[in-house]
Amino acid sequence: MIVSPSLLSADFGNLNKDLEMINSSEADWLHIDIMDGVFVPNISFGFPVLKFVQKVCKKPLDVHLMIVEPQKFIEEVKACGAEIMNVHYEACTHLDRVVQQIKAAGMKAGVTLNPATPVCMLRDIVSELDLVLLMSVNPGFGGQKFIHNTLNKVKELRKLIEETGSKALIEVDGGVNAETGAMLRDAGADVLVAGNYVFKSENPTSAISLLRNL
Ligand code: DX5
Ligand code: ZN
Repeated sequence: MIVSPSLLSADFGNLNKDLEMINSSEADWLHIDIMDGVFVPNISFGFPVLKFVQKVCKKPLDVHLMIVEPQKFIEEVKACGAEIMNVHYEACTHLDRVVQQIKAAGMKAGVTLNPATPVCMLRDIVSELDLVLLMSVNPGFGGQKFIHNTLNKVKELRKLIEETGSKALIEVDGGVNAETGAMLRDAGADVLVAGNYVFKSENPTSAISLLRNL
């Protein structure tokens, strides 16, 4: 299992310490949640913080933009060293264009679906994607309860990926812990994002290893 701990639950008063923990852990990526208070009812942090994270973090950055008009920030996200740029399906009128622009900028393109957006909406684009991020909570906050219907969506997406010959990875974000992580593995997920489960744990590095070895 690929594990992408979510920085949103880190200690922003001591980011260096948490980033060093990530560096020395088995984490594969670091998940970065950027919110604008418009697309989601919360604001997290922006590019100045991301630039600092890039300097310290040795893991690939998996950037999840919960913002309207994400196409305006492709170059900025690239300049912050992102390896993967995830945009919401619900935030892009011209999704195909945005995906092509992300790839042309030299990043992997991910498309994120809110819990109420069906997987079938990706039928005509999934073969172009490097990753699909399924939200298993309504985006905007860490520490929410896992929405169980996500398990059906993972299975459906796995089927769509096979039918279309897509190489996209299936990533799941929200309410992931050892229990929901095991269910997601069985359903066919490739990547687990975990915020609270990792950063609020007594031993974050072993929480990461546990998810990784599911
Ligand atoms: C929620 C964010 C998540 C969040 C997950 O909008 O996209 O990445 O940090 O947090 P947990 O794992 O605590 O649900
Ligand atoms: Zn996220």
